[in-house]
Amino acid sequence: MTNVDWDAEAASFDEEPDHGLRDPEVRRAWAGRLRAWLPARAGDVLDLGCGTGSLSLLASEQGHRVTGVDLSAAMVTLAREKLAGRDAVFLVGDAAAPPVGEQRFDAVLVRHVLWALPDPGRALRHWCGLLRPGGRLVLVEGVWGSTAPVGIPAERLTGLLAPIAGQVRLERLSGDPSLWGKEVTDERYAVLARVRTSGQERGEVTAAGE
Ligand SMILES: C[S@@+](CC[C@H](N)C(=O)[O-])C[C@H]1O[C@@H](n2cnc3c(N)ncnc32)[C@H](O)[C@@H]1O
Repeated sequence: MTNVDWDAEAASFDEEPDHGLRDPEVRRAWAGRLRAWLPARAGDVLDLGCGTGSLSLLASEQGHRVTGVDLSAAMVTLAREKLAGRDAVFLVGDAAAPPVGEQRFDAVLVRHVLWALPDPGRALRHWCGLLRPGGRLVLVEGVWGSTAPVGIPAERLTGLLAPIAGQVRLERLSGDPSLWGKEVTDERYAVLARVRTSGQERGEVTAAGE
C-alpha cells in the first residue's frame, strides 16, 4: 500500500463494501461499531487518512463534529462532497503530523492507515498528544492477504501502545462478515486506547471477539 497512488484509486475506492458502505447491512454493522467506539456524547472526531469520508459520515450522523485529513487531494474532494452541508472539514495533509494546529479532539479515528506509515510508534505518540483529557484512539487495522500479507498484527500495535496508553481494548473483527460484506479469514481488528494519565499503571490489554 505504501506505493499505492491514492489519487488514482479515489474514484473507484467506494466500490469495496467496507469502503463505500453502500450495502445497508455493511453500513449498519460499521455504524453499530462506531457508536460503541466513539464517545457517547457529541464531540470532536479527527479521522486520519479519511479516504472518501465513509466513516467520517457515520460519525457525523451520530452527532460528532468531524475533521478529516488525507494525503490524497482526490480523496479529500470526495470526502467533502460526501459530507457537504455537515459540520465537517477536510484537509489535505499527512496523517502522521496532521495540520490541525492547536485543536484537540475527543477521539482520533484511523482505519487502515497506521500500518503503512513509516514510523507507526511515533504517529501513535503524536496522536495521543492531539487528544483532550479523557480522549481516545480508535484504530482499525489488520493483516490482509495470505500469499504476501501486508498490515500490522494486533500484537505489534498493542505493544506499541503499551508505554503510552492507560487502557487498551482489542476487538477482533474477522468473525463478523457483516463488516466486510463477505466471510474473511485474515486478521482484522480494532484497538481502543485511552491515553495514560499521570500516576496510572501501564495499560492492560483486554480482548473481545476472540
Ligand atoms: C485504505 S484507505 C482507508 C481510507 C479510510 N480510512 C477508510 O477506512 O475508508 C487509506 C487512506 O489513507 C490515505 N493515506 C495514506 N498515507 C497517508 C498519510 N501519510 N497521511 C494521510 N493519509 C494517508 C490514503 O490516501 C487513503 O485515502
